[in-house]
Amino acid sequence: MSLKCAIQLGIPDTIHNHGQPITLPELVSKLNIHPEKTSCVHRLMRLLVHSGFFAKTTVHENQEKEKEEEAYTLTPSSRLILKDNATSLSPFVLAMLDPALVSPWQFLGDWFHGSELTPFEKAHGKGIWDYCNQNPEYNNIFNEGMASDSRLMNLVVKDYKPIFEGLGSLVDVGGGTGTVARIISEAFPHMKCTVFDLPHVVANLPDSKNLKFVGGDMFQYIPPADAILFKWILHDWSDEECVNILKNCKEAITSKGKEGKVIIIDVVINQEEDEHDVITTKLHFDALMMAYVTGKERNKKEWEKLFLEAGFSYYKIVSSFGMKSVIEIYP
Ligand SMILES: C[S@@+](CC[C@H](N)C(=O)[O-])C[C@H]1O[C@@H](n2cnc3c(N)ncnc32)[C@H](O)[C@@H]1O
Repeated sequence: MSLKCAIQLGIPDTIHNHGQPITLPELVSKLNIHPEKTSCVHRLMRLLVHSGFFAKTTVHENQEKEKEEEAYTLTPSSRLILKDNATSLSPFVLAMLDPALVSPWQFLGDWFHGSELTPFEKAHGKGIWDYCNQNPEYNNIFNEGMASDSRLMNLVVKDYKPIFEGLGSLVDVGGGTGTVARIISEAFPHMKCTVFDLPHVVANLPDSKNLKFVGGDMFQYIPPADAILFKWILHDWSDEECVNILKNCKEAITSKGKEGKVIIIDVVINQEEDEHDVITTKLHFDALMMAYVTGKERNKKEWEKLFLEAGFSYYKIVSSFGMKSVIEIYP
């Protein structure tokens, strides 16, 4: 919540625009802080420096260099939340820390005793996708948050071109407002790309040359293509639900008489090999899945079980970057 507050106050951008380390009085004056709350800015910054979002350095207060003063600078983490940065993750922070996603945590304890599917449902009386459908304002915040994470996929597509090379068509299932599909369609102009998501997500999004938007429900049907992409989708669903989705997928990639593939970008829990920070993030994401949806984060064995149950015969983990892995599965 302190990070959200820093974004709301515009602290990362204020430091960035200052062009040099910024002292507390300079920061306070640029942020228009109420005079009685100046010391609270110091306390907020102290915590965010401690957690690595900002760093502290020493500057000289005047030209004569007599008096030294502490000043704040950005770190790689806060560079990622600068508003005008093409890869800014601040929409993701604001989406995840919106009251809609914070309130379910108050119900986690009670949820263990009750029959609701998720703490989210206990808090809001409906599942997260219905909630997004009925709350256009949060729907936009959520989709923007997902899109901001997806913009980082630019790097992935550049580094892992062979995954997509030679494909004539691709459907990004649960592709949100199309950020990933747009990146792929631009990198591979001959590939026909489709974003398939719930109607309220893709409504009114304009098609372009090799990118189109289709509204629908992946539990009913998935449009045929050489490859089906799922980024951050299967971790939202229980094993049984995933097997149903994957069965529809198998039909979609084999319906044209040839065998395509499914590309999954998601978490693979690997507690033996991952660095401590990466495990921490993955386990926190698993807790998020418990609070919001019926899904979970899975280890290699758990993924494998799903693929076999859905009728796929072969899979490989192509690569892992940060907390996400790319898995390819074949019929
Ligand atoms: C966690 S978001 C991921 C969005 C996008 N793939 C990304 O990584 O930025 C999950 C997406 O699944 C979509 N979704 C949920 N239920 C669906 C369904 N039954 N059929 C198709 N899409 C669905 C949601 O609308 C949402 O856009």
